[in-house]
Amino acid sequence: MYRFTLALLFPFLITPAQAAGHTHHGSALEQRTPIPVTAEEKAHIHLEMRAFLASTQKIVSAAAGNDMKAVAEAAREAGMAAAHEVPAKLREKLPLPFKKMGHATHQGFDDLARDAESLGDANHALKQLGQVMDNCASCHAVFRLETGKR
Ligand code: HEC
Repeated sequence: MYRFTLALLFPFLITPAQAAGHTHHGSALEQRTPIPVTAEEKAHIHLEMRAFLASTQKIVSAAAGNDMKAVAEAAREAGMAAAHEVPAKLREKLPLPFKKMGHATHQGFDDLARDAESLGDANHALKQLGQVMDNCASCHAVFRLETGKR
């Protein structure tokens, strides 16, 4: 009972076993929801993620140089058109909130591209990028991929 109360009061307490990564699920260090996927599906998602990161880097650099044409180009690369057809089988495995955040990210990059072209305002673009990146941070906080369990 005492231990139970402690766990309730201090859910962030880390036991040595957890710190060493000995517990696979629900450890204090790993609270993200696993999405079971194949190794290939994981590679697919990671590839798309690295494209997100590359676009983000280009947008920041181009905005700092006030090159709004390059900002628009980089943002468009990560827009809806770039949402490579996710294989139907993979899509079935993705939880709805995951798909929504992914969609919002692509959509946000398209909005950024459109505004960069029409307004030409670097500050506005960076503000939008900050909002788009809320999706990156939120999704990463909640989900992880898990291979090799089917
Ligand atoms: C809908 C969910 C979601 C969104 C939105 C999202 N990510 Fe990810 N990201 C993931 C998942 C899941 C992984 C893989 C985690 C794992 O392997 O367990 C990942 C992995 C990554 C990686 C590592 C790729 C590798 O090759 O190891 C990078 C970099 C990354 N994301 C960048 C971004 C950036 C930048 C954004 C926003 C512009 C973003 N992500 C938005 C879910 C998301």
